[in-house]
Amino acid sequence: MTDRKVRILVLHGPNLNWLGKRETEIYGSETLQDIDDTLQSEAQALSAEIKTFQSNYEGALIDKVQEETEWADAILINPGALTHYSFALRDALKGSGKPVVEVHLSNIYAREPFRHQSVIAPVCVGQISGFGKLSYLLGLRAAVALALKNRKSPF
Ligand code: DQA
Repeated sequence: MTDRKVRILVLHGPNLNWLGKRETEIYGSETLQDIDDTLQSEAQALSAEIKTFQSNYEGALIDKVQEETEWADAILINPGALTHYSFALRDALKGSGKPVVEVHLSNIYAREPFRHQSVIAPVCVGQISGFGKLSYLLGLRAAVALALKNRKSPF
């Protein structure tokens, strides 16, 4: 067993770089930078290390999962609209073999019917939806707990 910090890969999908500008009545006025900064300080408080990455491209997110699978102990992801249709991203997350936590700023079940289905959720340990920035903070706690639990397991 090693005493290095647990490592969490944080991924943000399409259009999340527009936070603070687009549909602020749904997604709030904070920017993605604000969210990443908060996650960085929360990670420090939890003795975890995080790497954050945003892309508007499905393939870039898949590449990042593949590149960082060795590094990461767990993955925290807001897949944006890819949540609802990306089997390729789902396969990459499943293929990583790492515990995955899915988060959403908005409550996807209280919105348009096409948002009620997540094709990502079945390969995740769990999903947190509807708490704004707090969804990410709760998700980070869950990801760290899962990473620590895996580390303690002798198998
Ligand atoms: C979202 C919900 C998705 O349906 C939407 O496409 C997004 C953001 C959320 O965080 O609430 O881009 O993932």
